[in-house]
Amino acid sequence: MNINSILITGGYGFIGSNFIRFLRKKLPNLKIYNLDKLTYAANIENLKDFENDKNYIFVRGDIKDRSILEILYPKVDAIVHFAAETHVDRSIIAPGEFILTEVYGTFTLLETLKKYKNIKLFLHISTDEIYGSIEKGSFPENSPLNPSSPYSASKTGADRLAYSYYKTYELPVIIARPSNNYGPFQHVEKFIPLFITNALDNNPLPLYGKGENMRDWLYVIDNCEALLLLMEKGKIGEAYNIGASNELKNIDIAKMIVSFLEKDESLIEFVEDRKGHDLRYSIDWTKIKNLGWEPKKNFEDGLRETIEWYKTNRQWWEKVKRGEFSNFYKKYYKREIQ
Ligand code: NAD
Ligand code: TYD
Repeated sequence: MNINSILITGGYGFIGSNFIRFLRKKLPNLKIYNLDKLTYAANIENLKDFENDKNYIFVRGDIKDRSILEILYPKVDAIVHFAAETHVDRSIIAPGEFILTEVYGTFTLLETLKKYKNIKLFLHISTDEIYGSIEKGSFPENSPLNPSSPYSASKTGADRLAYSYYKTYELPVIIARPSNNYGPFQHVEKFIPLFITNALDNNPLPLYGKGENMRDWLYVIDNCEALLLLMEKGKIGEAYNIGASNELKNIDIAKMIVSFLEKDESLIEFVEDRKGHDLRYSIDWTKIKNLGWEPKKNFEDGLRETIEWYKTNRQWWEKVKRGEFSNFYKKYYKREIQ
């Protein structure tokens, strides 16, 4: 697919900013439009190095605002849609914004797309969380969807809306369903960055329940590689799981973090479990493997590099921690060890 210009939604977030930097390396002449509302989760410092890039254009705006889309759509050949509310704990406390952004936002992007035949691809970023929890085995793409948090339920709505616009209106939709990403520039509200930065400051690491929950950890750059491959070789109308087969219990990751930082395990504090906490996510990613992708980063190396990044970018995350927080989070940041 010959793409000269692209619209990225949510490009100042964690994966979006890594993807923009990755695209710039792979496609130096690509014109990149980044449409981002700049919610609490965005960080304009994530793309500080793009300030003088003439082929990078930031537009502050909401994906629910059709008038902005009408200005941007004629200019681009493809869209990669990351913008979302993404923190499960926030979705439990205040689900409204998740439903508006994920469902109505994705609807607005798709509805506007009907008019613009110049756009050859709409790559929708979904998540493995839409399948729900699985005790044994792994979900292939055609599994029933069984989301259990307001976040994953609204992401499921978005995923199926994207599919319906392919099926009903023949729009050029591809759906990516990555597993839990980790790496540089991830917001400190999320598990791995929260535990690294709290440990660096000798603050407690709030582990939910018994810490037995498992996620399949995917290094963000491996995810970026997979997304680019889908842009090049993915089949319109199809969904693709992107996993890493790095399934680890939260407790084991917490122990790795304290050990790599040469801290004491007593920093790990078992706290009340998340409501409706999914025990295990696991996806079968044979389909994208058959397209020619597999993750390169070994988890231990990826975690060590991520720890190193947070160590050397203290200013970045301290600013984020000084910003807006929900109460459950503030509690653990502020508290000092007795
Ligand atoms: P993030 O929370 O770090 O960033 C989200 C970005 O979207 C922010 O820059 C925010 O300002 C922007 N945004 C939010 N609402 C918007 C709106 N209405 N209009 C325009 N911009 C808006 O998210 P992330 O972790 O980078 O995740 C990106 C995408 O990948 C999401 O769709 C998420 O569901 C999906 N995903 C994430 C993971 C993960 O582990 N982080 C795993 C699988 C899928
Ligand atoms: P998170 O990073 O929020 O991602 P998700 O819930 O979307 O998978 O959490 C990853 C895992 O870590 C999840 O099982 C919940 C757990 N967790 C904690 O134990 N303590 C925390 O403070 C956070 C934020 C998460």
